[in-house]
Amino acid sequence: MTQAADLLDPAERLDLDGLRALQLERLRNSLRHAYENVPFYKESFDKAGVHPDDCRSLSDLSRFPFTTKADLRENYPYGMFAVPRERIRRLHASSGTTGRPTVVGYTENDLSMWADMVARSLRAAGGRPGDIAHIAYGYGLFTGGLGAHYGAERLGCTVVPASGGMTSRQVTLIQDLKPSIIMVTPSYMLTLLDEFERQGVDPRSTSLRVGVFGAEPWTEDMRREIEERFAIDAVDIYGLSEVIGPGVAQECVETKDGLHVWEDHFFPEVVDPITGEVLPEGEQGELVFTSLTKEAMPIVRYRTRDLTRLLPGTARVFRRMEKVTGRSDDMVILRGVNLFPTQIEEIVLRTPGVAPHFQLRLTTSGRMDALTVRAEARPDADAATREAAARSIVQAVKDAIGVSVDAEIVDPESLERSVGKIRRIVDLRERKG
Ligand code: DLL
Repeated sequence: MTQAADLLDPAERLDLDGLRALQLERLRNSLRHAYENVPFYKESFDKAGVHPDDCRSLSDLSRFPFTTKADLRENYPYGMFAVPRERIRRLHASSGTTGRPTVVGYTENDLSMWADMVARSLRAAGGRPGDIAHIAYGYGLFTGGLGAHYGAERLGCTVVPASGGMTSRQVTLIQDLKPSIIMVTPSYMLTLLDEFERQGVDPRSTSLRVGVFGAEPWTEDMRREIEERFAIDAVDIYGLSEVIGPGVAQECVETKDGLHVWEDHFFPEVVDPITGEVLPEGEQGELVFTSLTKEAMPIVRYRTRDLTRLLPGTARVFRRMEKVTGRSDDMVILRGVNLFPTQIEEIVLRTPGVAPHFQLRLTTSGRMDALTVRAEARPDADAATREAAARSIVQAVKDAIGVSVDAEIVDPESLERSVGKIRRIVDLRERKG
């Protein structure tokens, strides 16, 4: 089933040839804009021996150098901007767990394009003008809240700017204002679930119809859990500040088969994370983005560190990216075996007697690293169920990932709850050297 054509915007109605032609024209302009207005790009293109005029086809993009988070840090705060500071209408920043934060900027046109892309995303998620949208992504320097906000307004929704936190009030607002859409991180949705139950309100009884979840990796098992517990459709929204914020890619509610990249504005590539070689469609690697229309901060071949694969379009002409399984930064290498928190999420969610709350604790045991999966018991799980659950998690990790871990089933509500992006890994390893 595809969406009725009259609900699509003009770019969504292009055929593949039309889309590729539009992308090439925009790409050439964007490379020129970056080269002429950002000293960093002039230097990096010159060093690589390429000029914007060398881009004659979309595949020529692979000749241009990558941009990394470190490049943005080195040019903190305004060095990556391609327009005079007076033309910047808004700044956002990433918190940056290590070192300096990164700052991103938007012109008036950039903000408008961003709102259009979030509006398009919401429409793909099943949102319509007139819907009430409850936004529980954090407002502030994080792009989630304000990005979702202006996009929902652009679509014609009534917006409830709840932001993150004050969880009991969120439940009251949902009960009273009767939103049909909620936009929130999947982990905070689980925090809301607990709060509904604590207040004795059936989470399946609310007015909510669709949840638009992103900003962190989440699995198909988590989708099932949320859809069943809330009786809603749960769809995935992806984005990152360096590219724009939320609304770079979105899953369509009618297919739920990966996220269509809005590639009339953001050109995706998947590269081998080690060699940087562009990989053919369908192969897994690191996602790389080039902006096609951004004014304030054009970005060329930005290394996202997110791991996924590109697939042909289905519900839309645009290519899809598979649900992001993790970031290379979140990968734990445990005694030589690579492990992602999402792999543990799948196992925890399939284990009877365990709630969908877990944490990965890394410690040093002798000269080896050790990992303990700490998962919360469901309130009705007795001691025997808990013991069986711990054994089952250890076995499932061994079978699926091939490494030995410990598992600890802790009391209900004893693990820290998310109010935004969740932190799954607690690293207590002794620092070497
Ligand atoms: O998280 C923007 C956003 C807000 C997206 C709200 C969706 C919803 P940053 O804080 O810059 O921006 O973090 C970007 O978050 O590189 C991914 O690692 C991760 N991420 C974002 N969306 C998803 C998703 C926002 N749907 C980083 N699935 C990205 C998995 C995601 N990871």
